[in-house]
Amino acid sequence: MTIDLTNRRALVTGSSSGLGRAIALALAKAGAQVGIHYHTEQDAAGAVVAEIRSQGGKAQAFGGDISDAGTVQQLFTELDAAFGGLEILVNNAGMDGRPALCADSDPKTWGKTIAVDLLGPYYCARQALARMLPKKRGVIVQITSVHEFIPWSGYSAYTTAKAGLSMFTKTLAQEVAGSGIRVLAVAPGAIRTPINANVWKNPQGLQDLDRKVAMGRMGEPEEIGQVVAFLASDLASYVTGTTLPVDGGMLLYPDFRHGG
Ligand code: BGC
Repeated sequence: MTIDLTNRRALVTGSSSGLGRAIALALAKAGAQVGIHYHTEQDAAGAVVAEIRSQGGKAQAFGGDISDAGTVQQLFTELDAAFGGLEILVNNAGMDGRPALCADSDPKTWGKTIAVDLLGPYYCARQALARMLPKKRGVIVQITSVHEFIPWSGYSAYTTAKAGLSMFTKTLAQEVAGSGIRVLAVAPGAIRTPINANVWKNPQGLQDLDRKVAMGRMGEPEEIGQVVAFLASDLASYVTGTTLPVDGGMLLYPDFRHGG
């Protein structure tokens, strides 16, 4: 059994680096034509496109700020011109914001985090649905986080956005299940990407992080990419409206191994 995404057109937001890049590579490897969306990192997006093409795959870069509805509309118009349609949307782009306790937080940063992590996926999903509903076919995968479940001091905007994205996933899945469209979420745990480099590049930080994971290690971006490719494929044709944690057991409360 192989994951086959040939003849599928996909857009992965925030795929110039980190998880998005790994997801885009995995979808392309399975045969999909992939839109590499970036906000500011045009060169890095170009490098991902080049990497996919060098492996015989099809990809093109698309730029824009997903927290702006008009920009998202423009982005999808460009995608229509280049791809002529869309079967897979991966809402991956996100930010965790500058850590600050709620009492000390800056409303502007809080609002921006919600705009990128929650409004952005909503704007993109709306545009994707306009293309998927008439065809009665499509898959939307939202990249949430274990922090849709686990509170995280200093990151109230991020956890709120991710929990919101989870309920958006369920509600949307319910709305479109009868129209041939599946909507899912993947909740990564601690994956080695630029977003948490400040932690894993520090030996003490890495040790502390590894202790929070039942499997005792961070995940690699490819371990998220392959799961997203599977969920986007027909191998997962009966899966919708749920979150799949891919976290090496971070949600297993590993500290309780030592007694409660
Ligand atoms: C965050 C990472 C963090 C992980 C586990 C993710 O959502 O982006 O920085 O390491 O959750 O706490």
